[in-house]
Amino acid sequence: AIVPVLLCGGTGTRLWPLSRDSYPKQFIAMRGELSLFQQTALRISDRRLYRRPIVVVNEDHRFIAVDQLREIDVSPATLVVEPVGRNTAPAAAVAALHASEQDGDAKLLLLPADHVIDDEAAFTAAVASGLEAAGSGRIVLFGIEPNSAATGYGYIRQDQPSGAAASGVAEFVEKPAAATAERYFASGDYLWNSGIVLVAARQLLAELERHAPDVVNAARAALVDGERDLDFLRLGAEAFGRAPSISIDHSVLEKSEHASVIRVRCGWTDLGAWSALWEIGDRDAAGNVMAGQAVCDDSHNCYLRGEGILVAAVGVEDMIVVATEDVVLVTRKDSDQNIKRLVERLKRER
Ligand code: GDD
Ligand code: MG
Repeated sequence: AIVPVLLCGGTGTRLWPLSRDSYPKQFIAMRGELSLFQQTALRISDRRLYRRPIVVVNEDHRFIAVDQLREIDVSPATLVVEPVGRNTAPAAAVAALHASEQDGDAKLLLLPADHVIDDEAAFTAAVASGLEAAGSGRIVLFGIEPNSAATGYGYIRQDQPSGAAASGVAEFVEKPAAATAERYFASGDYLWNSGIVLVAARQLLAELERHAPDVVNAARAALVDGERDLDFLRLGAEAFGRAPSISIDHSVLEKSEHASVIRVRCGWTDLGAWSALWEIGDRDAAGNVMAGQAVCDDSHNCYLRGEGILVAAVGVEDMIVVATEDVVLVTRKDSDQNIKRLVERLKRER
């Protein structure tokens, strides 16, 4: 059986001002009634294939996570609480160490909690088809056919052309610059990294030891210093704080010689930025998506969202306007990746 690891400690800055440090996007019902985190937890609830999940969450959001799991009647095997966010590599290292304490042969399915997947059956089939490769020491990635030269994703080049179900990874490039992404997209040789990884816990640890030993050392010390109470595990703050802040993509996937990729068509979308919400939203005849309280006239291809306040737009195109109680965000759809920069500046200046 597979041990799912729900990574839900991010802050989702590109969806500001809806996604906040205090209530990040994965806990918001972006589409449908359930939050993305809840949708992810339900995705792995078939106990024939999956054990109960390890949930790795930031201290600030532990109560939100617990409440949301209770709502959907999922009880995690362990809720790992991070005293500080150190990106995904340390979180994955802790999960791998913890899982292999219980079962030396555990296979992990690392799951970001900010995706929409429309075809759950296709997703499950893809995961099941990767089990054998993971069992023989491969790091199994799930590749998505790109539909643009997006810069917010990792790009994977397969070592054999399409066709084969699983193939080796010839090259992994995390979030390339725009010109590089254009080239990759135009070549047709690359898949997007979905961010979902199937790997034996032991193998993940071996790769981390090799490429990012500081991450494993800090994770190990944070577990030793951690406090445990039933299914709750709080990492030692000082030890975990010593971990470098680095993603699994940069620390392992870009460097490993053991990565494989399975191409999957499961209606996957990363709801990372406002343009993605526009893309999956219900567009009217003029291409506008309106959420909450919003009206417009003579406007095209806009995303308008009013939270407790009315957003009204006239004669605009390709705009994103999101109004919340205390912030109004106005941007063009093609600049939405830069919101992160603005939010970081605001944090520094305040
Ligand atoms: N526990 C924990 N701690 N989780 C974290 C942390 C952390 O410090 N930082 C991020 N996460 C969680 C996020 O909440 C999210 O669910 C997941 O890990 C991935 O992090 P993101 O920050 O959303 O990564 P990304 O979207 O920029 O890039 C990754 O996903 C893309 C696909 O969506 C990479 O894997 C890319 O290569 C990939 O294309
Ligand atoms: Mg993401």
